[in-house]
Amino acid sequence: MDAPSKEFALAGSLEELKIKGRLVVHGGHRPILVIYDRGRVFALDNRCPHMGFPLERGSVEDGILTCHWHHARFDLESGCTFDLWADDVPICPVEVRNGDVWVKTNFTHADLAAHWRQRLANGLAHNLDLVIAKAMHGQLAAGVPQAEIVREVALFGAQNRDGWGVGLTILTALANILPVLPEEEAYLALFHGARRVAADCDGEAPRRERAPLGSRPDPAALKRWLRRWTNVRHREAAERTLLTAIAAGFSPAELADALFAAETERAFADTGHSLDFINKAFECLDLVGWQHAAALLPTVVGQMVAARGAEESTAWRQPVDLVALCEESTSELADLFAAGRGSRDWSGHAALAQELLGDDPARIVDALKEAIRAGAAPADLGQSLAYAAALRVARFGNANEHADWETAHHVFTYANAVHQMLTRIGTANIDTNVTAVRGVLHGAMALYLARYLNVPPARIPGDGGEQLDDLPADPETIGAALLDAFDRQRQVDLAARLVARHLTLGHSPQALIAALAHAVLREDAGFHAYQMLEAGVRQFGAWGDTDEGRHILIAVARYLAAHSPTERASLQTADIARRLMRGGELHQEAGSS
Ligand code: FES
Repeated sequence: MDAPSKEFALAGSLEELKIKGRLVVHGGHRPILVIYDRGRVFALDNRCPHMGFPLERGSVEDGILTCHWHHARFDLESGCTFDLWADDVPICPVEVRNGDVWVKTNFTHADLAAHWRQRLANGLAHNLDLVIAKAMHGQLAAGVPQAEIVREVALFGAQNRDGWGVGLTILTALANILPVLPEEEAYLALFHGARRVAADCDGEAPRRERAPLGSRPDPAALKRWLRRWTNVRHREAAERTLLTAIAAGFSPAELADALFAAETERAFADTGHSLDFINKAFECLDLVGWQHAAALLPTVVGQMVAARGAEESTAWRQPVDLVALCEESTSELADLFAAGRGSRDWSGHAALAQELLGDDPARIVDALKEAIRAGAAPADLGQSLAYAAALRVARFGNANEHADWETAHHVFTYANAVHQMLTRIGTANIDTNVTAVRGVLHGAMALYLARYLNVPPARIPGDGGEQLDDLPADPETIGAALLDAFDRQRQVDLAARLVARHLTLGHSPQALIAALAHAVLREDAGFHAYQMLEAGVRQFGAWGDTDEGRHILIAVARYLAAHSPTERASLQTADIARRLMRGGELHQEAGSS
């Protein structure tokens, strides 16, 4: 071909174009639609940005191209859409030389990263899943670091909604597991996180800025005030106090201690969601940078001060007054910590977890006391609590009502949040122990109240050397069988057995975690599924490839199996975006129909 440059392709003669009105250029590039309209020549990607159907079937009137398929309308000259759900169509340079029409086959932008960042901002602002998916794909292809993308989305979510929500929690949970995901799954994870943030912000009033106090009270006063304002549900005061602590340079551990203390003024607040959101805000800052603390952290305050505590519920008051038991025990347990009997090599986590699963709340408190005397640190208690809560899920009886899964889930994610917060806080000061004790006690009582979920308990496969020889042996076949199980309803026990089979044969836990993540990311998963996956991966990290680690991943698999499959509409959107972004023909047959 006699091309003026390698980047240009011959579309045809101008006369032919005038007669036909439009031509399509095929080749090793995207199909290009060339249109003649009122004396001018235009060239666009022939694949409609909405779903990839050929634009050559569209109509042109008054400089507006209307897609034949779902009637999205585009400015012919710029490719910009009048219908935001369809996205803009890329255009390319076109030249008429010696009576022939040449089009430049490269659609690229001068600064790809900047282009896709702007597209992501547009997609988030207008809650457009397809635009978000394409922008996510575009940014990753342009080499934008994943952490930078998470930061963009997190800051959008913090600014465009009056409080931390489900979307930011999902974003953070998925960002936490990005390191264990293959590239394709990272795209899906970021897409899901961003689309849920956009959905959360859609139609919401943006957040109003608040300022720290002009003074810098001492840390103890700020912590006291935060508890006081939480008690009287004074959101503005609590936010200004927290902002002052941030401005005063509190460390992440000190901020965690202050917020944990305020949050535990109420027991198991909002069935654990309040603490889980707080913990996720801290984890989000670990991911996006603590320089954004003033923008992100105060977003949790609104829910924290408004949350309803379990002390208001009958179940926590009768037949045993669990709230009174927690209050009586707090100072005693805190004193035990303060006595400093702890040794750093305490390893009774699994044994304590079994005690926490008992059916006598006073004995549960005694077990905690004994563990502290034997050397357990606050974070150790958190780890035991989280493992015990995972066992509640792993042993969840199939005879329970389906909605009861959420009861088990709430305790587990709360316990995981307690563990993560206590790990972050450490053992820096004595006050911390009161905070720590309250969180652990509240978690232990929530766990106690959920004991009926294990009556009768589901059997955990793989214990006692059980080999499960009726199942496949190689990891690929096990993985395929696991995904197949998630493809069908009510495969809870089969999913558990496959997880046990994989781990007891010594196969890679990372491959198993990737399969579980894939099982979540391909679904229109509910909020709790993301939480369960991430908390499970986090807790597995604490135990490693042990019996306890196996129990935790079995808990994750059983929960996910109980909530799969779904319609997978968002996966369809992600697939369309991926294929559009990769170039090549989509729906070619539709063009010739
Ligand atoms: S509007 Fe063009 S494919 Fe849907």
